[in-house]
Amino acid sequence: MKTWIDRLRREHTLAPEAYRRLLATADAQAVDYLHRQAREVAHSKFGNDIYIRGLIEVGNRCRNNCLYCGIRAANTSVARYELTKDEILDSCRKGHELGFRTFVLQGGEKQGCYAKWEDVVSTIRRTYPDCAITLSLGEMEREEYEGLFRAGADRYLLRHETYNAAHYRMLHPETMSREDRLKCLQWLKETGYQTGTGIMVGSPGQTLDHLVEDICFIERFRPQMIGIGPFIPQKDTPFRNWPSGSADLTLRLLSIFRLMFPEALIPATTALSTLLPDGKQKGILAGANVVMPNLSPAACRSSYALYDNKAAEGTEAVEGLALLRKQLDRIGYRISTARGDYRSPTHATDKQANRQESSSEDK
Ligand code: 5AD
Repeated sequence: MKTWIDRLRREHTLAPEAYRRLLATADAQAVDYLHRQAREVAHSKFGNDIYIRGLIEVGNRCRNNCLYCGIRAANTSVARYELTKDEILDSCRKGHELGFRTFVLQGGEKQGCYAKWEDVVSTIRRTYPDCAITLSLGEMEREEYEGLFRAGADRYLLRHETYNAAHYRMLHPETMSREDRLKCLQWLKETGYQTGTGIMVGSPGQTLDHLVEDICFIERFRPQMIGIGPFIPQKDTPFRNWPSGSADLTLRLLSIFRLMFPEALIPATTALSTLLPDGKQKGILAGANVVMPNLSPAACRSSYALYDNKAAEGTEAVEGLALLRKQLDRIGYRISTARGDYRSPTHATDKQANRQESSSEDK
């Protein structure tokens, strides 16, 4: 096991069977070792810094009917809301004052909103030229992704949820397809977004083989951001009676992705904190380097009910920033208020180093 983990750290890739064994092993020492290696790699790239992103849940109206999700179109029990441009800008202002330099606009997938998003994105871009704008608004047309990128969006999050086509069909209605999802991810990357993808761990019907397929897809796709959270049942969905995914498996995957992609931006997700009271700390100690406190207006937070008991208080909310600082401090980390863009391995620092070398040669 240790040999594989060392190799993954060194070469950033393993054979599918080795991934499978890492996910399945009952060897607690090996799992500890995996987390330690991942933590060291994150530390070598980011030091003690944890990037913060202000998550603004811009609306819960959705055209889709994903079987796992509490804001699916068929759910009539949830109060629907949609933030206005002014409300979104208010959230940004509050976030900016608190030190946030990335705003994540996340919401249900809706058609016919392009003009609104273009307006909102370009206004945030003008008002906060020092901030990154991340969108997480689902599938769109290529031209729409391109337009929002031109308007000033920098990053886009779109989890593929599961790579296995049959499993994708089990989680989604027939109107959706894995091919559409993968096509969107490709467009996002080609448009120039820092692109994030990811999965739910332990979603109904998921097997270890599916997870290995996910790892191999992510290895090929090379996203800049990777979101991994456990599945958690939601009471108004067809999956209400399924058990939650495993936090332990979530943490293993997190570490595997950190070793595969030392520079990737990997959050300790809200779903993980919902399942484990100390999920955020555990996620960071397994190699995560991002947290995303909730910056939405307090009144609508309970309506963005993707899953039951979604953590929305304490360190999950911007009001808990002081507490978050304290929690991070206790495990030796601190909040960074930098934008926290993805830096490829050959990015500025290396180039600067090269330049310095060649200029000293000149002397
Ligand atoms: N449990 C865990 N995560 C969920 N998501 C949606 N529903 C659930 C659930 N029941 C995740 C999906 C989606 C992200 C915004 O929230 O992975 O991409």
